[in-house]
Amino acid sequence: MKRSFIAAAGLAGLLSACTPAMDGETGGGEAAPTQAELIGQGEVMAEALCARCHAITREDESAHSEAMPLREISWHYPVESLAEPLAEGIMVGHPDMPEWQFEPKDVDAILAYLESIQVPRET
Ligand code: HEC
Repeated sequence: MKRSFIAAAGLAGLLSACTPAMDGETGGGEAAPTQAELIGQGEVMAEALCARCHAITREDESAHSEAMPLREISWHYPVESLAEPLAEGIMVGHPDMPEWQFEPKDVDAILAYLESIQVPRET
């Protein structure tokens, strides 16, 4: 277990600092989850849904040889650009990857987790 909780916590602080709670709009009365909670939920989802093909931590190997480790998404495009595809279920056009349609709160959780595991591109 060498996961970087420090980096994740730092990122969480940063994000929550510039995202004021959006209570008025939801009207649900539920407290918005903290960034740490989102990351935790996203990790559970990634383990359940993505791990059988993609590497989902900072150091594991992808089980499916063509599925890039999710920590490298940011090498190709900003992680948050996945928000729409994840919500609309138009993820990718390749046969092996299943298609999902996630609830907005689940998208937030997955993206929070993905952000928390990104690594810089090696040169
Ligand atoms: C059954 C195997 C499988 C599962 C499960 C799976 N993927 Fe994939 N995924 C793939 C493969 C294979 C590719 C690469 C295929 C390609 O390049 O055309 C891929 C590609 C991707 C890409 C890159 C798309 C692009 O821009 O080309 C992203 C992002 C991604 N997956 C995210 C996820 C996430 C998030 C999950 C879990 C919610 C997930 N995948 C679950 C097999 C899977």
